[in-house]
Amino acid sequence: MSLSDLERVATAMVAKDKGLLAADESTSTIGKRFAKIGVESTPEHRRDYREMLFASPGIAQWISGVILYDETIRQHTKAGVPFPEYLAKLGIIPGIKVDTGAKPLAGFPGETITEGLDGLRERLIEYYQLGARFAKWRAVIDIGAGLPTPFAIEANAHALARYAALCQEQNIVPIVEPEVLMDGAHGIERCDEVSSLVLSAVFSQLAAHRVHLEGMILKPNMVIAGKKASVQARPEQVAEATVRLLKRFVPAAVPGIMFLSGGQSAAEATLHLSLMNGLGPLPWQLSFSYGRALQDEALVTWSGKPGNVAAGAKAFQKWARLNGLARSGAYQPGAELRSA
Ligand code: 13P
Repeated sequence: MSLSDLERVATAMVAKDKGLLAADESTSTIGKRFAKIGVESTPEHRRDYREMLFASPGIAQWISGVILYDETIRQHTKAGVPFPEYLAKLGIIPGIKVDTGAKPLAGFPGETITEGLDGLRERLIEYYQLGARFAKWRAVIDIGAGLPTPFAIEANAHALARYAALCQEQNIVPIVEPEVLMDGAHGIERCDEVSSLVLSAVFSQLAAHRVHLEGMILKPNMVIAGKKASVQARPEQVAEATVRLLKRFVPAAVPGIMFLSGGQSAAEATLHLSLMNGLGPLPWQLSFSYGRALQDEALVTWSGKPGNVAAGAKAFQKWARLNGLARSGAYQPGAELRSA
């Protein structure tokens, strides 16, 4: 293992003005998104859609890397170039989702454990050969009556740390993603409390597993009220609570924190990131690793029609650029309506 390689890649992932496109939806998840726009989920359609995103003009200014799914890392552009090679030529680092999903945690109704550790070393070796230089593993923590349990938090933190150690052994930068869901009716304080327990457990397990913090990226949720909550926090509150939480639990050795959007609208996720970056100086880079917030408008604009590819690409480019601005606190709310 080369520590300097890991540090170099992790630092490049959070380069100035840049963040990640999470395009690693599983076949089942992208199938649901395609169903909403009336597109049949075939390997060709999934390839066409991802190619539209990756080929959007100029995105390398704002996109440092793309998280791919197992199918996508093996696919080619219409011109026959493997996707990882196509991205690398643009100066965009290919990454890969390596967990195999959150499954019911036996004995703990309503909670999940993320799977995918068996055979992971061998899969990482193959993914490295296919061009991946970073990986992602998502743990899912739901907030509900009496949930999460301390055991589910610990089990998920343990799995995240085992994954991270294996990645670093194979010279792949781990993105450690403990996602506290925003699906419930809980307020921002409850999200803060649960996220504290989760980050505390995660960094304790990372230390126990001897994970090299300088060669990893954290991908957390923001501190935010549940979608069904009667009171929503103001954007400034979300930004302040999130930065305060991260300062308590994330060591300064971690080069970057790249948020998930988690069901926030594109404008909300972009504004929150921008406000947080306005609260500096901060010990780490704060960036984005958005799936839906970067793709929602592009997906609907495209709607599976070849004639819409240019417009869909432009929609993705727009949100990539606005999040590039948010990296330095320079996104102005509503800018998406004024820019073409
Ligand atoms: P969202 O930004 O849509 O939450 O997706 C990010 C991601 O990679 C979730 O694992």
